[in-house]
Amino acid sequence: MAGTRTVAPEPSLAARPRFGRIGVGKSSRCLLHVTSRFLNENDRGYALSRAGIAFDAQKRSQQGKIMTQKTIANHEVGGQEFYAQTPANIPLFYDQGLGPVFFVDFANDIARRAAAAAPLRVLEVAAGTGIASRRLRDFLPAEAHLVVTDLNSAMLDLARTKFSPAEGVGFHSANALSLPFPDNGFDAVICQFGVMFFPDKEKAYCEAYRVLTSGGHYLFSVWDSERHNPVARLIKDIVARFCPADPPRFCEVPFAYHRIDPVRDLLDSVGFTGVNISVVSIRKSVADVSAFARGQVRGSPLFDELRVRGVDPDRVVDALTELVVREFGSEPTRMPLRAIVFEARRP
Ligand SMILES: C[S@@+](CC[C@H](N)C(=O)[O-])C[C@H]1O[C@@H](n2cnc3c(N)ncnc32)[C@H](O)[C@@H]1O
Repeated sequence: MAGTRTVAPEPSLAARPRFGRIGVGKSSRCLLHVTSRFLNENDRGYALSRAGIAFDAQKRSQQGKIMTQKTIANHEVGGQEFYAQTPANIPLFYDQGLGPVFFVDFANDIARRAAAAAPLRVLEVAAGTGIASRRLRDFLPAEAHLVVTDLNSAMLDLARTKFSPAEGVGFHSANALSLPFPDNGFDAVICQFGVMFFPDKEKAYCEAYRVLTSGGHYLFSVWDSERHNPVARLIKDIVARFCPADPPRFCEVPFAYHRIDPVRDLLDSVGFTGVNISVVSIRKSVADVSAFARGQVRGSPLFDELRVRGVDPDRVVDALTELVVREFGSEPTRMPLRAIVFEARRP
């Protein structure tokens, strides 16, 4: 809500971090922290409003053009194109349905890491609806200036509503692959769960490097594999059940960029040093599984992929809700989630 600052309470059941090594090689540079946290439901976001649920059948991009079946079908897999034209309401379902389950706890984690070095000029890329941005603003020094960017201006519009003008936050539509900022201007660049969607990861890393000052920090998170995020497999199973001949391809993207060594090697080759890799696990308590399922189906590009295939999204929501409860137990259901956080420094 505009003008308010809400800080999620610290998770009271946070277990002590376990530190260990996993076979990632180059261990002197890449100490791998295995952090297991079992968190309370500490931030459920806002209840989905009726207005949000009563979905407008007409699809419009944020530029106001009606999205035809053809333009939707032309979206490329594995790239930013999924998010380039977001029909109205996706940001709301994303923020309120997916946010409290998938993003809020990891946002707390990455924002705390970013704030540890007390950076004063901070850039966030692929910020979406501002879930991590809100945490960043809460944890960064008061005098820090935060610049929040995303390719998609509809997502950013929602992010904007979470800040008051006095908080010193700037907003820009920006492609992470060609950032509209001069060299050496930031002490930290942050990206939560965005890198998987970048069609050219190296270019994105080079851009982060370019805009960072010497000694600046680059932090980003990705999802670990489906093995560690079993809900991803459930989503895929449900979607395949409804579209057996031509399953939506969006489901392949978010959980597919989890191999640590290639990322570390790429960061090394771009010039970053001090690469540190943390695996962050939570057991997430979900009080309203159908709101989560609705967020998953209606709050992501999956929605259009279903629509062009003639599948009623609400039937998918119901089936996903049922399967999640069957797999993880009745509400509040508890599902394991696991992310990988990369931290690197520009020398
Ligand atoms: C899963 S969301 C993550 C959003 C946010 N960081 C969070 O944690 O809630 C992925 C975001 O990446 C953005 N995105 C995709 N490709 C992008 C690109 N090339 N440049 C900037 N943002 C991009 C999308 O618009 C979307 O908001």
